[in-house]
Amino acid sequence: VRDLEGEKAIREAMIAVRGVISTAEEDPQRPGFHFRPPARWMNDPNGPIFYDGWYHLFYQHNPYGDGWGNMHWGHARSRDLVDWEHLPIALWPSKSKGEQHVFSGSTFLDDDGRPSIIYTSIGRPDPEQWLARPLDDDLIEWEKAGTALTASGHRPFTIEEWRDPFVVSWPGHRWIYCGGRHEGRGMVARYVDAGDGSERWSFSGIVFHHPTLDLIECPNLVHVGEKQILLTSMHGRIEAFVGGFSRNGYTFVPERSAIVAAGSYASQTGLEKDGSVTFYSWINVGGAVGWTGCMALPCILDLDDEDHPTLTPIPALRKLRESTQEVKGKSLTGTLTLDDIGNQVELILDLDPGLASRIELELAFSGPDQPSHRVAFDPATFTLTTPRGSVVIRPAASLKLHIFLDRIVMDLYADGGRVSQNMGLSREPKGEGFRLHSIGGAITINSLQIHRLRSAEFDLTHFH
Ligand code: FRU
Repeated sequence: VRDLEGEKAIREAMIAVRGVISTAEEDPQRPGFHFRPPARWMNDPNGPIFYDGWYHLFYQHNPYGDGWGNMHWGHARSRDLVDWEHLPIALWPSKSKGEQHVFSGSTFLDDDGRPSIIYTSIGRPDPEQWLARPLDDDLIEWEKAGTALTASGHRPFTIEEWRDPFVVSWPGHRWIYCGGRHEGRGMVARYVDAGDGSERWSFSGIVFHHPTLDLIECPNLVHVGEKQILLTSMHGRIEAFVGGFSRNGYTFVPERSAIVAAGSYASQTGLEKDGSVTFYSWINVGGAVGWTGCMALPCILDLDDEDHPTLTPIPALRKLRESTQEVKGKSLTGTLTLDDIGNQVELILDLDPGLASRIELELAFSGPDQPSHRVAFDPATFTLTTPRGSVVIRPAASLKLHIFLDRIVMDLYADGGRVSQNMGLSREPKGEGFRLHSIGGAITINSLQIHRLRSAEFDLTHFH
């Protein structure tokens, strides 16, 4: 049976988005190699999945404005998570069923190996977790496929702000993890399926309470090596809890926690064939007509030898490199200037601070009294200061930085991946130059590579 309401909702939403694509494209400061919708607002990445040779990515999308509202699921696919093809909007609010918003969720493979979506349906008036199934192998058209969970499932527990289902599959069983609040504390609740393919789920308890915060959004649970990592988002920060389940299986017990991807929010994870975990998150950046928001660069989420979470940008991003400037084994007192590196660059720096009291990098530099984006390092305190703020890194003989500048968005990785920052930048700096200052003494540049990057492709052929 065709869902005429859905077809109409999607048609109208896409007409609305198409109407502002050219406006969004006029903004010279809009990021070019960070994933973003054809136009208008995006927030959380949703349900990333590799299927039939493609990475599919969905995202919270407002087709009707540059601010949050009218939540739909936008959709795109990619061969490598670098170049993209925009596909028609996948999910719409079914107004006739009382649905106002299609909130975040995830995808999983059903018993026939086909992706399903589970998401939070808002508006009836309590949240419910709904299913959707694709009508084709390109995952372009979806039908709503019933309700997986209602709040009656966990009564007499009262869970507020109950949302963002995340599915973990194991041979024979699937679990849904939802975020929310229980008795004033952020929590993750778990539901288990009947194991008979019927997709009937029952409540199996609250497996985690946040130690301090009153809400958990977008929980993700993944295996990395011997450990499990529970990712939680709340109040603008993503936290990784590293640990595992208690012996009886009822509680997630963290051994350590860390903020990851500072500046980005609402993580999702994708499992790769080699067992590695790809990490997706959202940067709230905009400020022009026609667009707001992009994804942070996809990263590999891992643990280092002290089981501390690390993020490393995916190697496939190397295909964006167009030309390279390199400095090697150079001692520097004062300033190194490179005039024309562009405003879409990848910078990989390894330097020995020597006797310098301060080291400073300037990007988008245009002239001495002009604004630029600055990253500074104080070798005495191992403090790194970026446009987002300061962070102390571990003492080490050399400073290693990996920075991506994409017009008004920057991603910065340091301290072996323990530090990752994503940020929207000021629109003011408009230059294409680079400066490196060594203040108070000589430094040794062991190596500096600056790659000029191209924008990613965002193919719109199928966005109709
Ligand atoms: C996180 C979040 C989710 C919710 C979605 C709504 O940014 O608030 O909890 O499902 O965004 O757009």
